[in-house]
Amino acid sequence: MADPTRHLAPTSAGLADAADLLRTGRLVAFPTETVYGLGADARQGAAVAAIYEAKGRPSFNPLIVHVPDIRTARRFAVFSAQAEALAKAFWPGPLTLVLPLAAEHSLSPLVTAGNPTVALRVPAHPTAQQLLRAFDGPVAAPSANPSGRISPTTAAHVQKGLSGRIAAIVDDGPCPVGLESTIIGFAQDTPVLLRAGGLPAAEIESLLGVRLGQPATDKITAPGQLGSHYAPQGAVRLNAQSAQGDEVLLGFGEITGDLNLSPDGDLAQAAANLFGHLHQLDALVRPIAVAPIPMTGLGMAINDRLARAAAPRG
Ligand code: TXA
Ligand code: MG
Repeated sequence: MADPTRHLAPTSAGLADAADLLRTGRLVAFPTETVYGLGADARQGAAVAAIYEAKGRPSFNPLIVHVPDIRTARRFAVFSAQAEALAKAFWPGPLTLVLPLAAEHSLSPLVTAGNPTVALRVPAHPTAQQLLRAFDGPVAAPSANPSGRISPTTAAHVQKGLSGRIAAIVDDGPCPVGLESTIIGFAQDTPVLLRAGGLPAAEIESLLGVRLGQPATDKITAPGQLGSHYAPQGAVRLNAQSAQGDEVLLGFGEITGDLNLSPDGDLAQAAANLFGHLHQLDALVRPIAVAPIPMTGLGMAINDRLARAAAPRG
């Protein structure tokens, strides 16, 4: 039988244990401000491979490497002027930058899936920060959910999906942002939006004074770009004014529903509630209808996740 998964408190002692587990190549789920991540030492190939095995991820997609600050990030990647400006403005925070690998980076090639680039993120969550400092090394971490399923915004979500498959979960309550980080890559010197997320694209465009490019569609560079992702067990129908038949209704604003993402129509609150509400409705194993969400600010990322939850299953 697999070892039981330990639950660790977000205390110095708990985080020292978590860091020790990472050092020995074990997997530890931990909170970030976006979603819970499933962490492994990004320099140990076997530890990184174990992430794919625990998630049941079909192929070696590249993973985001988490570091505590921009100074540490510079050991792993080469920053252009635009990347530097974004990092200074938005790190720590829900932003991931895909950058050319530094010459001597020490990362396992499994982390980058053989790409000449690496995705780097400096999370703002105080517990993530403390864990990264206690571990004192780069932590590869995808969202801590089984591949293709709803992302985890509480330790209970992680436990439901991965219990018995990972060494430990650091439990520090719900994630305040609730959506994965915004991912920016660079094609020649043009910034490209690889995934909408917790930092609205408009804030990035206004800081850089340019429009973000769209990713080339000929190849999948992020699982977030696959059709079906974030999928509950029941079918999902979008832009619904009311429930039909057996459906449960996920409301927003004045469309009340069985659960409401934000009765006040506040998009930050809706983002923070999105995956938790989907987990709750998922447990009912009924089709889910979702009220319309405006396409402004965080609404872009919310609609992106909902569209993937509703996409035909492969
Ligand atoms: O908020 C987040 O970003 C969370 C927390 C835990 O930090 N992490 C997360 O990881 O969402 P994951 O693995 O679920 O998504 C990482 C995305 C994937 O879509 C992956 O393809 C993309 O980042 N990615 C990673 N490295 C890349 C690279 N070198 N080039 C292009 N895309 C990359
Ligand atoms: Mg994910």
